[in-house]
Amino acid sequence: MDHFHYRNRVLHCEDVAIPALAAEYGTPLFVYSQATLLHHLSAIQAAFAEAHPVIAYSVKTNGNLSIGKLMAEHGSGFDVTSGGELYRALTAGGSPSKIVFAGVGKTAAEMRYALESGIMLFNVESEDELFALGAVAQSLGKVAPVALRVNPDLPPKTHAKTDTSVKGVKFGLDIETVLEVSQKAVGHPGLAIAGVHMHLGSPILSAEPYRAGSAKAVELIRQLRSQGHNIRFLNMGGGFGIHYRRLEAPSVTVFAEAILPAVRETGCQLVLEPGRFIVGNAGILVSTVLYNKETGGKRYIIQDAAMNDLIRPTLYDAFHRIWPVQPPVSVTEQPEDYEAPIAGTVPQDVVGPVCESGDYLAKARNLPPLQAGDLLATFSAGAYAMSMASNYNARLRAAEVLVTGSTHRLIRRRETFADLVACEVGCLR
Ligand code: LLP
Repeated sequence: MDHFHYRNRVLHCEDVAIPALAAEYGTPLFVYSQATLLHHLSAIQAAFAEAHPVIAYSVKTNGNLSIGKLMAEHGSGFDVTSGGELYRALTAGGSPSKIVFAGVGKTAAEMRYALESGIMLFNVESEDELFALGAVAQSLGKVAPVALRVNPDLPPKTHAKTDTSVKGVKFGLDIETVLEVSQKAVGHPGLAIAGVHMHLGSPILSAEPYRAGSAKAVELIRQLRSQGHNIRFLNMGGGFGIHYRRLEAPSVTVFAEAILPAVRETGCQLVLEPGRFIVGNAGILVSTVLYNKETGGKRYIIQDAAMNDLIRPTLYDAFHRIWPVQPPVSVTEQPEDYEAPIAGTVPQDVVGPVCESGDYLAKARNLPPLQAGDLLATFSAGAYAMSMASNYNARLRAAEVLVTGSTHRLIRRRETFADLVACEVGCLR
């Protein structure tokens, strides 16, 4: 469900026509729908209402401060994975008591920052990290609240680069070794083992891994409690899939049905760390066609967005729907199925200006003939697009705009050439 739709053959975000935004803010441009963001946040809150979960929006998905502020204002906490993300969460108005901190490589400085901020939980991923955290906490006269991140060793569920709960990945403690580690922490003055954390992977399109993972968590919580740990939190991470192609993702209530039994059984406070589910379909990337080109028997659309704006197709062969903002009358307003032949279209590669053959948003995509100046929309670009954007080829990162109803405002200005060199000019000699 999202609030991007065609009205009289013009793509709108809520009540705002996309061409008006492109004219005002330029392209490439990320456009977010506030109604979509809030709809998805409240869909999770409703599906899990029985458990009164702490929803910790995953900052890595899209760390824009205005989006974070919106999340905080609507009851969300934050999942962070670096000192920088903690800074973003706090700057956006996040309450430390609803912040969880995951990641395999937290530094002592990050631990101190998080302890001094009074965050809710550290999701600890190794024995070394656990005792390093204990030492930092002791040095500050504090007790670190800890959830042990466990790798439940489930079958592969998603792209190998983003599957975080199969054997052999760097994340979490192996489920067979957790109890050994937790035993060593019994009575540690700087550590309170208070929860179990799992993040299974992303995106996940079936509830089964959550069912299997949370069943393993129930058993582990029982064992941790019998070691004397006061386990109060069950954190099942993020990973809920979204519709990139058509309607491939289950409803969030299906994920809730898989997870809630473990909450009932353990009596734990449920924590969830959704990112993509909230913001993925709440954003599009708008670009302008620069040139057409035919070479090597292929047709290319060269437009002004590139892999530095949206790296998912390059990195994971990810599929994003792409369609003209103002489709010609020869084609449908928006195809039902982007991969089946579409009348009035020809297969074209959608590429950007970056100097790499891997710079593409889509390959052999059925699109109508387009001309310089035409606008294209790449859908489902709210998650892991701007947050993974770079300045490669010294390209300026795009502007971001938030739409609500018939109003819109800039939430990140387009970078300038001066921004590009800001960290270096002071070092020139
Ligand atoms: N919690 C933890 C500990 C995570 O590592 C992640 C994502 C999340 C929560 C949020 O997952 P979500 O609800 O958004 O699926 N760049 C990749 C995705 C990497 C996900 C990394 N961790 C992509 O573009 O598909």
